[in-house]
Amino acid sequence: MDIKLKQASITAAAADLIVVNLFQGVTAPGGATGAVDQALRGTISDVIAAGDFTGKSGEMLVLYTRGGTIPAGRVLVIGLGEAGKFDLRAARNAAATAVRKARDLGAKTVATIVHGAGIGGLDPAAAAAALVEGTRLGLYRFEGYRSKPPKDWKPDPETFTVLGKDPAHLAAFQVGIARAEAVAAGVILARDLVNTPANYMTPSIMAERAEALAQETGLTFDVLGRAKCKSLCMGIFMAVAEESEQEPKLIILEHNAGRDELPTVVLVGKGVTFDSGGISLKPGDEMWKMKSDMAGAAAVIASLGVAARLNLPLHVVGLAPCAENLPGGRAQKPGDVFTGMTGKTMEVISTDAEGRMLLADALAYAAKFGPAAVVDIATLTGAQAIALGPQAAALFCNDEVLAAGLLAAADASGDRLWRLPLYDEYLDAIKSQVADVKNTGGRYGGVGTSAKFIEHFTEGYPWAHVDMASMSLAEEDKPAQPKGSTGYGVRLFTAFLEAWGK
Ligand code: BES
Ligand code: MN
Ligand code: ZN
Repeated sequence: MDIKLKQASITAAAADLIVVNLFQGVTAPGGATGAVDQALRGTISDVIAAGDFTGKSGEMLVLYTRGGTIPAGRVLVIGLGEAGKFDLRAARNAAATAVRKARDLGAKTVATIVHGAGIGGLDPAAAAAALVEGTRLGLYRFEGYRSKPPKDWKPDPETFTVLGKDPAHLAAFQVGIARAEAVAAGVILARDLVNTPANYMTPSIMAERAEALAQETGLTFDVLGRAKCKSLCMGIFMAVAEESEQEPKLIILEHNAGRDELPTVVLVGKGVTFDSGGISLKPGDEMWKMKSDMAGAAAVIASLGVAARLNLPLHVVGLAPCAENLPGGRAQKPGDVFTGMTGKTMEVISTDAEGRMLLADALAYAAKFGPAAVVDIATLTGAQAIALGPQAAALFCNDEVLAAGLLAAADASGDRLWRLPLYDEYLDAIKSQVADVKNTGGRYGGVGTSAKFIEHFTEGYPWAHVDMASMSLAEEDKPAQPKGSTGYGVRLFTAFLEAWGK
C-alpha cells in the first residue's frame, strides 16, 4: 500500500473511503468532521443527537454519501475518546482501527485527516507519524505457510492519502511520515523474524536476513561463525550452541562504521532461535513459543535498519549472538564450567538459563568498540513476565544518564519500560562453589539475579539491560498490534538513539 501526502480538504477527496474523527462527547463537530457533516446535510450531527455515536475511543460510524456533494463513496468517523486523554498512543490506535475497518470494507483508496493535529492538539509531525505508524502496524499480518490465505482476509487498500488542508503543516507532516515509514518498516521486519518458525529462522538465516537489510540500507555487515567465536575464546556462548547442528552466528551490523568522531552506542540482542531448555528441558505445552526467543536479536537488527534509514548522527553497532538451545550428546550439562571471552568463569546450574550465557560473551565483545553506552535486550526470564506482565519490559541500568535516556524513549515511543534494582546482594544468590558465578540464583528475584549475572560480564562502559520476556508475543489482538509478535524494542531504540545523538 502506497502512502501519499496531499494538500487538499477532505471534502474534495475522491476516495472509496474518507476518514474523519470525533472526540467523545462532542455534539457539534467542527473542523474537517464538521465540513463533512455539512456536506452530508447534518447526518453526523443527527447520529450523535440520536445517541447512536458518542466518539468513544475505537467507536466507528460508517456513512454513505449517496451521490451528495462530496466525491467520496463512504465516510468513516472514528471515535478518539476523551480529548483530555488523547495522546500519540491514542492517535496510533485510532489510525490502526480505522484502516483495519477500511480494509474490511474493501476500500481500495482511502483518504484521511491527521488525527489530533487540529488547533491546540499534538505536534503536527508527531501526529502524522502516529497516523502512519498506526496504519502500517495495524494492517500487519504474518503471511505464514498456509496453502491458501484465510477466507476472511481482504486485500490491503492500494493507496492511502494523508490530507493536510493547512499548507503550514504540510512540511511537518512530510517529516513525520518519513520517520514513521522507517520505523514501521523496522517493526514489521522484527515481527516477521519473530513470527517465522524456528525451522525457517535458524542462526544462518538470521544472518542472511541481516545481510540483506545491510545491502538495502547501507549498513556494514559482518558475521562470526563457530571457528571465529572459538578463537575469540567465547566459551560461554559456544557452550549454548554446542549440541545444535545449526552453526551459531554472531551477527555484527554497523551504522556509520569508521566514523570515529561520532559517539558509539552498541545494542546487543539475544538470538536464541529456539529454546528447548537443553538438558534442563522445558515442559512441552508452550515450548513452541520459544521460536520467539530471538526477539531481542530481531529488535536489534531491525533498529539498525531504522538508524540507517533515518541517517542518525551516531556510530551504532548491533550485535546479535544467535544459537539454538537443544539437548543431546554434546550439550552442556548442569554443573559444567565454562570460561568466556573476559576470562571470567561460570557454572551451569540450568541449561535453560542460556540467554545470559550468550549475552555474557557478546557483551565482552562489545567492549572492542569503545562504546559510550551498551544496551542489551533479551527475552530472558519468566520472572520478568510474572513481575510486569505484558504491560512493560524490565530495565536494569548502572548509569543514571543512560537510564534516563531509555526511560524517556520508552515514554515517547510507547514501548514501555519499568526500572528494577541491581542490588549487590543479588550477587550472593549467584555465588558458585567452583566458578566466578553460576547461571541461576533460584526462584526469588530471578529477574534481578539474571541481570546481575549479565552485569558481571560488562567491563568499561555504561550498561543497560532490557528483559522483554513478556513483550515478544501478544496474546491479545490490539489495534496497532495484531496477535503474535509485537516488534517490541524497535520503537524504543529508535527514540533512544534519536535523542542520544542530540
Ligand atoms: N527464554 C527463556 C525465558 C522466557 C520465558 C521468555 C517465557 C519468554 C517467555 C529463558 O531462556 C529461560 O528459560 N529462562 C529461565 C531461567 C531459569 C532457568 C533460571 C526461566 O525464566 O524460567
Ligand atoms: Mn531458556
Ligand atoms: Zn531463552
